[in-house]
Amino acid sequence: MNLRNNTILITGGTSGFGFDFASKLITLGNTVIITGRNLEKLRKAKLQLPPVHIYQSDVSKPEDITRLFNDVTARFPGLNILINNAGEMRKISLHHQHDLEDITREVEINLMGPVRMVQQFLPHLEKQPEAAIVNVTSGIALGAFPLSPIYSASKSGLRAYTQSLRVQLKNTGIKVFELLAPGSTTSLNDKFMGEDGFSTRFMMAPEKVVDAALKGIERDKDEILPGASKLLKVLSRLAPKLALAQASKIGASYMYGK
Ligand SMILES: NC(=O)c1ccc[n+]([C@@H]2O[C@H](COP(=O)([O-])OP(=O)(O)OC[C@H]3O[C@@H](n4cnc5c(N)ncnc54)[C@H](OP(=O)(O)O)[C@@H]3O)[C@@H](O)[C@H]2O)c1
Repeated sequence: MNLRNNTILITGGTSGFGFDFASKLITLGNTVIITGRNLEKLRKAKLQLPPVHIYQSDVSKPEDITRLFNDVTARFPGLNILINNAGEMRKISLHHQHDLEDITREVEINLMGPVRMVQQFLPHLEKQPEAAIVNVTSGIALGAFPLSPIYSASKSGLRAYTQSLRVQLKNTGIKVFELLAPGSTTSLNDKFMGEDGFSTRFMMAPEKVVDAALKGIERDKDEILPGASKLLKVLSRLAPKLALAQASKIGASYMYGK
């Protein structure tokens, strides 16, 4: 996939991978639109990256997605790449009391969000001579991460959906990519600091993850597995019980005790 002169919509572009995607894709000569829930963060991103176009939109709200579609396609009819990046990850002890609406939040954002975005934007992407959908899953999608059970389920679900989407779109001009991102030093992980077994030592810098993603997309690699994600894929096939045992050590006292 050629990564120059496209019009690209990135959900969750105000920090982490999304912001780095925006910055690098602008440098490559693309028109880039980012979304997020927090208007202050969007304005700050615009100050840091003046060519970027910003839209406040919550990917977990169907009405926001429809409004975003109407606004963005009217202003940018050449929109041809959608990067489903917005995501949230919490640590959750299932022993605690949880509101039944709130407990599924990661599913609403990380899984239902991309599903609804694709459904809304697909007819538009089908009209473009060349188009792509990039879904950001995680190395965690290859197994389970018990400290974040809902996140873990949402990313495995998104991976399965992405594989089905690729099959269904194979006779169209739309390419489907999956970025199985490894652990990275973004604000997503701040809340895990201090949990037992949690370390940023083997995490990859977000810029490096995004560089690997862009290289993979340019080379038409369906599945992009930077850094530790490659190792996780091998481990999840050869020794899935060991992979789960290792993941279960992270945040053990939070999960079993407090
Ligand atoms: N960092 C990692 O270790 C890692 C590893 C694997 C996969 N990932 C995935 O990579 C993606 C990006 O994460 P990141 O690490 O870059 O995290 P981040 O720095 O926290 O960025 C998350 C972005 O998503 C936006 N967002 C969150 N909920 C949203 C919603 N409901 N609607 C619209 N935008 C929303 C945030 O802005 P607002 O809060 O203003 O909405 C922010 O711009 C996520 O899908 C994450 O699961 C991350």
